[in-house]
Amino acid sequence: MKNTLFYGDNLEVLRSRIDDESVDLCYVDPPFNSKRTYNQIYNNIGQEDRAQAQAFVDTWIWDTPASHGYHEITSNREGRFSEPTIELLKGLRNVLKEGPLLAYLVSITLRAVEIQRVLRSTGSFFLHCDPTASHYLKLILDGVFCSKGGDFKNGVIWHYRKWGVRQKQFVSNHDTILFYTKSNDPSREFKQLFMDRAPSTLKRFGNSKIISGHDASGKRLPSQMDAEESEGVPMDDVWDIGRVPPIKQLFPTQKPDSLLERIIDATTREGDVVLDAYCGCGTTVVLAERMKRSWIGIDITYQAISVILFRLEQEWGKGHIETISLDGIPKDMKSALALANKQDDRLRKEFEKWAILTYTDNAAVVRDKKGADRGVDGVAYFYATKDETAKAIFQVKSGGVKRSDVATLAGDLQRESAAIGILLTLEPPSRNMMLEAKSAGPYIHPLSGRSHDKIQIVTVEDIIESGKRLELPLNIEVLRAAQRGKSAKQMELKLRPAVSAVKDEILKKQVQPARDNKRAVKSRTV
Ligand SMILES: C[S@@+](CC[C@H](N)C(=O)[O-])C[C@H]1O[C@@H](n2cnc3c(N)ncnc32)[C@H](O)[C@@H]1O
Repeated sequence: MKNTLFYGDNLEVLRSRIDDESVDLCYVDPPFNSKRTYNQIYNNIGQEDRAQAQAFVDTWIWDTPASHGYHEITSNREGRFSEPTIELLKGLRNVLKEGPLLAYLVSITLRAVEIQRVLRSTGSFFLHCDPTASHYLKLILDGVFCSKGGDFKNGVIWHYRKWGVRQKQFVSNHDTILFYTKSNDPSREFKQLFMDRAPSTLKRFGNSKIISGHDASGKRLPSQMDAEESEGVPMDDVWDIGRVPPIKQLFPTQKPDSLLERIIDATTREGDVVLDAYCGCGTTVVLAERMKRSWIGIDITYQAISVILFRLEQEWGKGHIETISLDGIPKDMKSALALANKQDDRLRKEFEKWAILTYTDNAAVVRDKKGADRGVDGVAYFYATKDETAKAIFQVKSGGVKRSDVATLAGDLQRESAAIGILLTLEPPSRNMMLEAKSAGPYIHPLSGRSHDKIQIVTVEDIIESGKRLELPLNIEVLRAAQRGKSAKQMELKLRPAVSAVKDEILKKQVQPARDNKRAVKSRTV
């Protein structure tokens, strides 16, 4: 199988697209909203916010999929689940009742069973979680893996440092990574890694060079020879690895490269297949590629997919994207329609995200939540002058479009002080809509002098069939060329991916025009 990035729900992808016994290592880092108090999660207190749940799938609710999942497990119609797993889920329901924590555990159980199936008999599995649910997850994984000949190997503690505030408890500064194997097959890959020889390590274990290890005649003692001649102290299960600093994050839950490097290094060889079924911004995928492993990544949100594509392109060039298989990303009108009409609540915003990010080559900021923004689904910045950026705003329509939609966009344009408004629509616009859009007049770009319609209507067919993309004349290269005296027309370039903008959206920071403008300028200068 070619290296593949799947855009979709991992349960569907695992069940329909990944063969039995085809994966050597699976690492997953599923989302869990641990910001709520533990008491709330455990006791099911609080109204669930459906909009939040849809936005990042990080808030769990006891909804129809959770209830179906529970019945699928306990009825075991397809024979996928072991007896301990079924009994455990029943017991957990008695104790936890139907709420967010049980919904999360049901969701993970369904997926863990598929992961166990797709692993080779020599395969390894790492589940990354935090203390909110690590103890429940261990019970689930014991049920799924150990009842089928697998084994629990470690509960790795990933220890990091972050600022803590006083809150009448200790600062929580670790995640847990549960390590299981599908079997105890002796040919399973496990490369012994060693602790570094940092002063703290030497202090903890003693330094063979410091400890006196000679007998009275000056001959070295055997134990001392072992210590000196070995490569060091075998790595233990407490890993001190720094978190990705927020300023460098492309994604709010991005894990450090060195964490994934260690897991991949210890448990796979070159050419092995690595799977990340919740791949986020693709840390596993990028490390697997660097380390010459094959890989499969799955994510349910288009923002994650767009950041992964950006990372791959940054590191290996645009041509590299052609060598990987992209699955689930609309490539024709039929699949665009399918995405627009997905019934799944969690995917309601996905069509909008895909349309905006594809049309802007990942250069836009998608607004997840409506509210003060009302109808604006996304924004992109482009250079208006040498130092100032201007804003283009986007609205996406997947249903019937009408003239009043254009009028609303014109109103949003004013309210947002934006230069250009773009309506991305699945259905073709009527003649009246086109006239209404034209009547908004032109935006004359201050530097290029080029005229753009203030309100533009772009169809999904334009994006898919004609490959139409946002063409705003300026990025930093154009500005430099302008200073060298070439004509603006000659220098027109497409706005390139402004990952800082995507990042800002993902980090859920408020869009503050003045600050963002400065940041956008900076990101294009480097
Ligand atoms: C905590 S993040 C993973 C971060 C990742 N380890 C990294 O370093 O970037 C979890 C990811 O799982 C994705 N996700 C949640 N539910 C999913 C599902 N059912 N199928 C596939 N991906 C899912 C989310 O979109 C999110 O990107």
